[in-house]
Amino acid sequence: MELIQRPRRLRGSDAVRRLCRETRLSPDSLIYPIFVDETLQGVRPIQSLPGQNHYGLDSVNQAVEECLAAGVNHCILFGLPGEKDAVGSSAWAKHGVVQQAIRAIKQKHPDFYVITDVCMCEYTDHGHCGILCGDTVDNDQTLEVLAKTALSHVEAGADMVAPSDMMDGRVAAIRTILDDHGYESAPIMAYSAKYASAFYGPFRSAAGSAPSFGDRKGYQMDPHNRKEALKECALDIEEGADILMVKPALSYLDIIRECADAYDLPLCAYSVSGEYAMTKAAAAAGLIDEYRIMCESALSVFRAGANMLITYYAKELAAAIRKGDIG
Ligand code: PBG
Repeated sequence: MELIQRPRRLRGSDAVRRLCRETRLSPDSLIYPIFVDETLQGVRPIQSLPGQNHYGLDSVNQAVEECLAAGVNHCILFGLPGEKDAVGSSAWAKHGVVQQAIRAIKQKHPDFYVITDVCMCEYTDHGHCGILCGDTVDNDQTLEVLAKTALSHVEAGADMVAPSDMMDGRVAAIRTILDDHGYESAPIMAYSAKYASAFYGPFRSAAGSAPSFGDRKGYQMDPHNRKEALKECALDIEEGADILMVKPALSYLDIIRECADAYDLPLCAYSVSGEYAMTKAAAAAGLIDEYRIMCESALSVFRAGANMLITYYAKELAAAIRKGDIG
């Protein structure tokens, strides 16, 4: 055979394979989700997410210190409030769970980057992501409470807010209230293409945020759709989003690729609870090599075009990157 091109030449050793990698990962692009429970003291394992914990306000810095030790410098905070009501008023309370957690973190670790999830579903007694009018979530009334919530997070010291509710116009509403209060430098990471996905199941048990009736299909996106994701991103950019997000990740790699190609903004992907729980369950059953599946899954999200990743495996991935197993 007189082959001129032999692609195997660049696969012959670990050194040359590492030289020729097309996708580079860094611990700097990882974001770790932290669940803070107002009613908890100490740390409690989350049943639906093996290996993850709920943290009390007294121990949220333990979660932060575990991140820092692993080389992960960014988190996204989720709150489990002590009180819920129909409008989710604990979401924007000055001494709400997330607001207190931010202050506790910033007091001890001012440089640790804190993003907050802005949504109503953990705070409403019906579990929907906004204010109900009959059986549907009223878009425009919800914008007001989302904006107040985002403002209260930034006032408490959050570095960035990430609205995950999927109401129309929320990015503009949040941008306006932040600017009006002198926080024009606080960035917004918009959950732009957030699908109505079964992959959020373990999160909803962890956050106590499952809707008490119906589902979220009236506001989250239909998994059949692709162009709609581009439209949502375009609207979020017009409204002032700084970072776009696609969620979930693994079943939506096509959407990640399209959004990465179509827009210049940094793109985040969220590898959600169901993706993590499936991997953990398969590994616990002895069916897969957890470490390699974790690495390959994360790698595929970056190869698809994401610039950053929210993942329950952030700490383990940072170690894998440092070892050179990926990235
Ligand atoms: C809040 C929110 C959800 C997730 C992130 N923010 C749940 C939902 O929309 O039902 C899911 C995250 C995960 O599954 O890991 N709305």
